[in-house]
Amino acid sequence: MYTLRLTPDADGLSRASALLSAGLTVAIPTETVYGLAADARNGEAVARIYQAKGRPSFNPLIVHLPDTGAADVIASMHPQAQALADAFWPGALTMVLPLRPDAGIASLVTAGLATIGLRVPAHPAARALLRDFGGPLAAPSANASGRISPTSADHVLSPDGGLDGRIAAVLDAGPCDVGVESTIIGWPDGIPTLLRPGGIPAEAIEAVLGAALARHDGDPVAPSAPGQLTSHYAPNAALRLNADPRPGETHLSFGTPGPFSLSDDGDLAQAAARLFDLLRRADALGRPISVAPIPRHGLGAAINDRLQRAAAPRA
Ligand code: TXA
Ligand code: MG
Repeated sequence: MYTLRLTPDADGLSRASALLSAGLTVAIPTETVYGLAADARNGEAVARIYQAKGRPSFNPLIVHLPDTGAADVIASMHPQAQALADAFWPGALTMVLPLRPDAGIASLVTAGLATIGLRVPAHPAARALLRDFGGPLAAPSANASGRISPTSADHVLSPDGGLDGRIAAVLDAGPCDVGVESTIIGWPDGIPTLLRPGGIPAEAIEAVLGAALARHDGDPVAPSAPGQLTSHYAPNAALRLNADPRPGETHLSFGTPGPFSLSDDGDLAQAAARLFDLLRRADALGRPISVAPIPRHGLGAAINDRLQRAAAPRA
């Protein structure tokens, strides 16, 4: 298959829509990372996502929607979900909600679960495409399973773990602003729970809820968050965390300048936006990689989570 590179103008958007309507997969920009999209109502189209990524089929996918009204048709929005939607949608928040049985979503999307992960992305090209396409788009990150998430169209098409030749097209809107995936919140047993730290800090969500979130720090493959594989986002090189630089390593610095600086002045948002691109560029040098300590508050929680998965022993 030849993978088209489309631009996010009227012509590119209508071509992307047509490919999606034909049941094919298209990589799309979002403000967090690029997603590999398919029509969430078409089981064969969704199967092509799993095929292209080589993804274990027990991992449910996030469904992307144009607005909160579209979410209400697919899942029941209880009052806390509604409050979080009002505060953070469109944006980098995914909520796992009870799926309406008549929602028309292919069961492969939810891997047969009675819940569904929903997100209204903020990226203008994603929103324009969702309006043009007129339906829900299932989209995990647009990388081969277990590899680093893509934050540019070049990453999506990269010869190392990319999807060139495996998908119909990529809609190229340049680099992603946020750079780490969305924060995932669910309500297992009715309790608001942080299932994955991400682009919206947990503290901001707790401020809206007026309560602390339960955490899923323990078992990485807890049943309520399937697919939280311990080794994930993996570069080829060995990775040392919370580390000072050693000779022979490529060092990702934080708070000090350097050729692989996550942020010269210790800005966590800048570090998140640069994280996956720097990991890829460091990995391409073929030397072991070390990473400076990153604070754990705010966006630092998501950055540390991704780094720990990248450094975990490979399956
Ligand atoms: O920023 C993002 O969230 C990106 C962009 C493309 O939107 N998407 C993304 O999707 O990171 P993905 O498929 O790589 O991660 C989806 C995560 C998985 O870990 C999965 O376990 C969880 O969401 N998830 C999805 N539906 C779920 C459900 N019904 N119950 C529990 N976890 C769910
Ligand atoms: Mg992913």
